[in-house]
Parts: sequence; C-alpha cells; structure tokens
Amino acid sequence: MNEKQRLEQQIINKNPSDIKSEKDQDLERIKSTSSDEMIAKYFQTTYQAPNMKDAKKRGKQDTQVHYDFEIPEDMKNIGEGKKFLIRTYGCQMNEHDTEVMAGILADMGYETTYDQQEADIILLNTCAIRENAENKVFGEIGHLKSLKRENPDLILGVCGCMSQEESVVNRILQKHQFIDLIFGTHNIHRLPQLLKEALFGKEMVVDVWSKEGDIIENLPRQRKGNIKAWVNIMYGCDKFCTYCIVPFTRGKERSRLPEDIIQEVRHLAAQGYKEITLLGQNVNAYGKDLDMEYGLGDLMDEIHKIDIPRVRFTTSHPRDFDDRLIEVLAKGGNLLDHIHLPVQSGSSEVLKIMNRRYTRERYLDLVRKIREAMPNATLTTDIIVGFPNETEEQFQETLTLVEEVGFEGAYTFIYSPREGTPAAKMQDNVPQEVKKERLQRLNAVVNHQAAQAMSKYEGEVVEVLVEGESKNNPDVLAGHTYRNKLVNFRAPKSMIGQIVPVKITKAKTWSLDGEMVETAEVR
Ligand code: 5AD
Ligand code: SF4
Repeated sequence: MNEKQRLEQQIINKNPSDIKSEKDQDLERIKSTSSDEMIAKYFQTTYQAPNMKDAKKRGKQDTQVHYDFEIPEDMKNIGEGKKFLIRTYGCQMNEHDTEVMAGILADMGYETTYDQQEADIILLNTCAIRENAENKVFGEIGHLKSLKRENPDLILGVCGCMSQEESVVNRILQKHQFIDLIFGTHNIHRLPQLLKEALFGKEMVVDVWSKEGDIIENLPRQRKGNIKAWVNIMYGCDKFCTYCIVPFTRGKERSRLPEDIIQEVRHLAAQGYKEITLLGQNVNAYGKDLDMEYGLGDLMDEIHKIDIPRVRFTTSHPRDFDDRLIEVLAKGGNLLDHIHLPVQSGSSEVLKIMNRRYTRERYLDLVRKIREAMPNATLTTDIIVGFPNETEEQFQETLTLVEEVGFEGAYTFIYSPREGTPAAKMQDNVPQEVKKERLQRLNAVVNHQAAQAMSKYEGEVVEVLVEGESKNNPDVLAGHTYRNKLVNFRAPKSMIGQIVPVKITKAKTWSLDGEMVETAEVR
C-alpha cells in the first residue's frame, strides 16, 4: 500500500466527528501527497454536493414566504473596520443578488471597497450561462491565489450560478483549495452563518442546495445608485430550453406575492427612485405558481398606478406573453415602450429542438399583436447561432426573421454546450469557423437595423432620464429614453436624477448625441 492508498483508507475508515477534528492535519498531508480524486473523495464525506438531477425535480409543494430574516447576534458587528468586495458576472439577477449580499454584509458592519488589496472578504458572484463566462471566473480565481498568499486572513468566496454546478464545485475542491467559501443561489440568506464558519473554522465551507428554498422577503439591500432599482418579481425557471443551464442553477419558478412587490415599488417611489426594472428569468410566467388568478398583466396594471416615472421588465418568454399583458402595456404611462423578447432562432425546426414551445409563425403573430397595441415600441431580442445541426438555411431563417421584425438591438451568442443540459448530449457539430461567420453576418444585420432606427431620432427632442456621467467622458451626462436608447449630452450635473428634454444632434449605431433644451415637443 503506498502513501496515497494508506491515507485514502484512513479517511474512509473515519467517523465524521473524527474527520472534523483531524481535518487540518490531514488536509496538509493530503495536499502534499495525494491525487485530485482522493481530495474529492475526502471532501465528499463532509459536504453536500449540488446535484443536477435533484435540481431538475420540480415539486408541487408550496413555497413558503418568510419575513423574519435576522443577522445572528454574534455576527452583528463582526465586520466593523473591515471591507468587502463583490465581483459580479452575468445578468441583472446576479447584479441584484449582489445588492442583497452587500446589504447583509453592511448590516454586519462591513464597508464596501473597490480595491482588492484592502478587502477582507472577496466574493465572486458567478455566471454559468456560457463557457466563456466560466473561464473568466476561473481566470480570476487563479489571480486571487497570490492575494490569499499575501494575506492569509482574506476570505475568498465563490457564489452564484457556477456554484450550483457539481463539476465547478469539484474543480474548486480539487484545484483551488485556497478558496474559503462556496455557496449557491438558493441560500444567500445564510451568508452570516456561512461567513462565521469560514472565519472561525479552518476548512473550506461548501453549502450549495440542489433544491431551491423558500422566499425570504425582508433581506437587506444595498442598492447601486438612487435613480434606478431592480425589483425581483419571481425566481427560477421551469421552461427547460434544451441549451440552458438556468433551470438547474436557479431552481423552479417561485413568484413573490403581489402585495410584497407592490409595497417594495411604493417604497422605492417614496425614496425618489425614477425607474424600476421588474426582474425574473421568465417574467411572463409570473403568478402561475400562486394559488390565484393573477399574472404579470395584473401586476403591471397595479404598478402602472404607482407614482414612479418609469417601469421596465425583463426577461420575457414569447410563449407566456399573453393578451392581458399586451392590453395593460398599451396603456403606456410609466410602462415603457420597449420590449425585450428573446427569439433565439428564426427556424421553427431549431426552435422545436431548443424546446422553446413556439414556432416562427407564432412569434411573428405575437410581434404583430404587440405592434398593433404599441405602435412605437422598440423590440430587442436574444439569438443563439450554431445550435447543434443548425443548417445554413435555418440560419438564414433567423436573418429574415430579424429583418421582418425589425429588431433595433440584439444580444447575439454562439451556442455553448452546458454540461447537464439536454443539448449538451447532442453533437456540437457546427464548426467553430461557421459559427463565427454566422455570428458576424447576424451582427451586421442587427447593427444596420440599430443604426437605421437611431438615425430617425436626428433633430428630434426626446425625454432622457439622466443617470450620471458618461462612461467615456465625465464632462458629458448619459441616460436612456423611454424606448431605451442611450443618449450622451451636455448639461449641468445638477440634472442627474431628473428626466429632461434633449435635442438629438447626431445618431450613432448604439447611442445618440444631443443637447439639453428648455422644453419642446418630445417623442
Ligand atoms: N449557449 C449560448 N447562448 C446561451 N444563452 C443561454 N444559454 C446559452 C448557451 N448554452 C443565451 C440565450 C439567453 C441569453 C441570456 O443567453 O440567448 O436568452
Ligand atoms: Fe433559460 Fe429558457 Fe428559462 Fe430563459 S426561458 S432562463 S433561456 S430555460
């Protein structure tokens, strides 16, 4: 029996309490002698790995709502004089989760920093949607190793969607043992307890739930800015599009109660926020899991009456986009003239294999209905190219659909197989060069349409919510129109947070340049 086999045998023979007390010493020995496999085996005796099969099981049982979140007494001031940094990857849902984690840490006395050298805690809030998103995070984890070496008291955590994947957790356990904490998307509210374990224990803390938990309503939030705010209306996704990891990483669909959402929006309005974005992975399924006849249209109708100037929502799924919602959106007012409606492909055959549950014709029908009710609405979309078996003809159907709808913007992606999803079992058989070439052709059409739509604004006056200084030039202010067009213009800084009329002097592909005017006809 060699050293590795001997250690392995010892570990298998241990009972859990011995493991806990002896773990430090063992870990040191294992690190210097053993294989990756053995480390994984060792850890599996003490931690619960996320399980993609369990994540797929959707129970009928009700989700409980809790209003009793509290920071444990012994953790209330633990962060005094200390700082945290959260690096966020991916979608707005993650951005908002970061606001919640920041709120929890602030309630424990920690302060925000953007300088990793002075941080006592660094959390990576990760995205799993495509492989390149994951590669970025693993790159960052690699960079953090030297920081941990310089400062062994630094707590390094990995959370968000990647933590919900078995393969990611195993990879961190095997290759990045300097990470202190891994937790998932379902147990953010346990951050104080997990941090305590990470601070006072010596072993890596891994707490990832395969099954989603309840809804915790009273979590603190440290919102980024005081002009625009995100409001979750639901969590999870039950659509299981065959390429998508989200139903596994975010769990089943769970809607917040209308009264809780409305109270949050009212509160934001009272605090002076000018724009809210209602968030969910599939917002059109809102309410389906609640025991009442109430959907997104009904919710929007109530929010429409709240005194907040702008309301957006994302992301929509064409399948669940119903007439009631269209009827309410047509009322306008604070409900903005912009709909993001991911189509993914223009080919009914590809849509079928993607399990999107609509055809090209049904999508176009929906667009027609929306246009009838909201003639000025901007439509944008998400598209994937190079899905398994996508032919040149099927791709061309995507191009013609983009033209037919007249999308004014699109997030376009090359298909990326995600382990555990049904599509990952299909042969990823479109060559990479073909995928890249399709993406370029698609982007050329999208850019052309975006530029054309922008050019119509030259000479017009639009209302802009002034969000702050432009990213590229602090002397210029930036904001968005009702139809979500980015406008850069010169105006006094005191205008930040106001909605002001701006005359457009120049249209570019993705933004407009303008000058603030006194008052005039606005579009
Ligand atoms: N590969 C490429 N793009 C994907 N998306 C989701 N999953 C994948 C994948 N496996 C895209 C979809 C979705 C957007 C958020 O990301 O277009 O709407
Ligand atoms: Fe993913 Fe489809 Fe759900 Fe969107 S609707 S999150 S693409 S499974």
